[in-house]
Amino acid sequence: MANRVFNFSAGPAGLPESVLLQAQAELLSYGDCGASIMEISHRSETFKEILDSARNGIRTLLAVGDDFDVLLIQGGSRLQFSMIPMNLASREQTADYVVSGAWSAKALEEAHRECDVHISWNGTSDGFDRLPVNEDLLRSEKPAFAYYCSNETIHGLQFPEAPDYGSVPLVCDASSDFLSRPVDMQRHGLIYACAQKNVGPAGLTVVVIRRDLLERSSDDLPGYLNFKSHSTANTMYNTPPTFAIYIMDLVCKWIIDECGGLDSLANTNRKKAELLYSAIDRHAGFYSGHAQTASRSNMNVVFKLPSDELTQSFIEQAADHSLTSLAGHRSVGGIRASIYNAMPQAGVESLAGFMDDFANANG
Ligand SMILES: Cc1ncc(COP(=O)(O)O)c(C=O)c1O
Repeated sequence: MANRVFNFSAGPAGLPESVLLQAQAELLSYGDCGASIMEISHRSETFKEILDSARNGIRTLLAVGDDFDVLLIQGGSRLQFSMIPMNLASREQTADYVVSGAWSAKALEEAHRECDVHISWNGTSDGFDRLPVNEDLLRSEKPAFAYYCSNETIHGLQFPEAPDYGSVPLVCDASSDFLSRPVDMQRHGLIYACAQKNVGPAGLTVVVIRRDLLERSSDDLPGYLNFKSHSTANTMYNTPPTFAIYIMDLVCKWIIDECGGLDSLANTNRKKAELLYSAIDRHAGFYSGHAQTASRSNMNVVFKLPSDELTQSFIEQAADHSLTSLAGHRSVGGIRASIYNAMPQAGVESLAGFMDDFANANG
């Protein structure tokens, strides 16, 4: 499509073009119902089919059975920073937190209000440039759960695999790498993600929770903030974000039918990221990657140029080549190229080529 750019936004981020085209084709009348999906009741059979299909899509992709529930709720990932400790721990219990970047640090801040917290590892003093290995983690005696963020969107760090907490329920903020690679759900008690990076529009949060953990939610919690309310109501405790769920359903189908599932997608994502990291390494005196090599993210590639002037000029010239939304997060600066599932290989190749040209012209 002539006027679509390669959009490297960290989120809300690009969606697969085939999904957008299908949504466009169905916007005025979904199937034979004569109305938009946005205009029909969430209690209708038509929407119920979409909801079931979307939840099944998540189950299929994560390879989980009925021992996990899939809740499709609102409030973004930020609300989960509070809901998780509220539901999974009592005020007297301890929860272990791995503080590996801006997002897990914010989650810790909220957890402090709800329960006792134990910091298993903290990367603040290194400027969040690497992730811990299992030997680095200090575990508390009997934590109610252990919390980590699989992909730190701002600092561009991604755990190669989940940290090891044995039988302690592991909780994962997967907001920026959800459905980008297979996850070992048997090691997790709960995994959650806001939709607006890899699976759909903003306004939807996916919470996949092991059913036995639902028993921990106290009846004293406000209804909306109680995982059990959502589970008992089949994730329709209140009106769910119907349009966002419809798009997520299409994205799950796209991953299964067009990307060949999560193994294949993970491979593609790794190859895309390698193209950018190779460009950084080829011009090591000019570009400097934020993350240490072993912690590099396949979703958010964060790097710096020698000066603010060159950074600005990189962003402006890249935009002239239809490569947009490349400015780093304001707390880190530099460049951040977010290359989620929907970013085509051609977009990454184009950016890698631009990086070569820019370094050769200015280095
Ligand atoms: C890893 C991570 N966690 C949490 C959030 C917060 O998500 P929301 O804005 O949906 O609350 C973000 C948003 O960028 C994120 O990248």
